[in-house]
Amino acid sequence: MKKDDVQIGLIVACSENGVIGRDGDLPWRLPDDLKHFMRSTKGHAVIMGRKTFETLEMPRGLGGRLNVVVSSSLSIEDGIDGDGWGVVVARSLEEAIKIGLEADARLQAGMVWVAGGGEIYRQAIGVAGVVVRTRVHCEARGDVYFEELDALEWVIERYEEHEIDERHSCGFTVEWLARRG
Ligand SMILES: NC(=O)c1ccc[n+]([C@@H]2O[C@H](COP(=O)([O-])OP(=O)(O)OC[C@H]3O[C@@H](n4cnc5c(N)ncnc54)[C@H](OP(=O)(O)O)[C@@H]3O)[C@@H](O)[C@H]2O)c1
Repeated sequence: MKKDDVQIGLIVACSENGVIGRDGDLPWRLPDDLKHFMRSTKGHAVIMGRKTFETLEMPRGLGGRLNVVVSSSLSIEDGIDGDGWGVVVARSLEEAIKIGLEADARLQAGMVWVAGGGEIYRQAIGVAGVVVRTRVHCEARGDVYFEELDALEWVIERYEEHEIDERHSCGFTVEWLARRG
């Protein structure tokens, strides 16, 4: 696979009022949405901001992925194992995307995922061709937001609904959006 064949996708969960984060964490616990995130990103390069990386509580990042952390301050040693998984630090979003595209081409993965947080989504939305958005059906309190997507630019191609149940205090809908051609 060539670098030019790899797409850039944003994967995000936001409330009805656009909240994605609170006090440096997620405002909710939705185990099935987390499963969806883990399944979607496994085997890919995943770009994230330094603050999001620090919420992971995993010094080596998400397993089975190339974690590309965007930061001007973080000084950790890059560490990539024999399968291409681990953590690398990029000093700009452009550098992170370049690393991600090359890795996904090498891995035949086809999609570099941008996994937040707010600062990184705002900078990356312009280069993304795909957004996978979990719309959490609640009005959440928070301090980090994801912008409403312009319906003239983005089309929902499919969606899956998840009801409230004993493990999920809010219902949610996972939406797969593509940029209009
Ligand atoms: N609901 C969701 O789907 C979701 C997903 C991810 C995160 N979140 C939430 O979002 C919140 C974190 O988001 P956030 O906006 O505060 O932070 P963030 O985007 O995760 O990280 C911001 C940091 O990234 C680095 N950075 C950003 N742009 C850069 C650039 N162009 N060049 C170099 N470094 C750059 C900077 O790190 P340095 O200061 O080190 O330079 C900056 O402080 C948390 O609450 C988290 O739980 C939610």
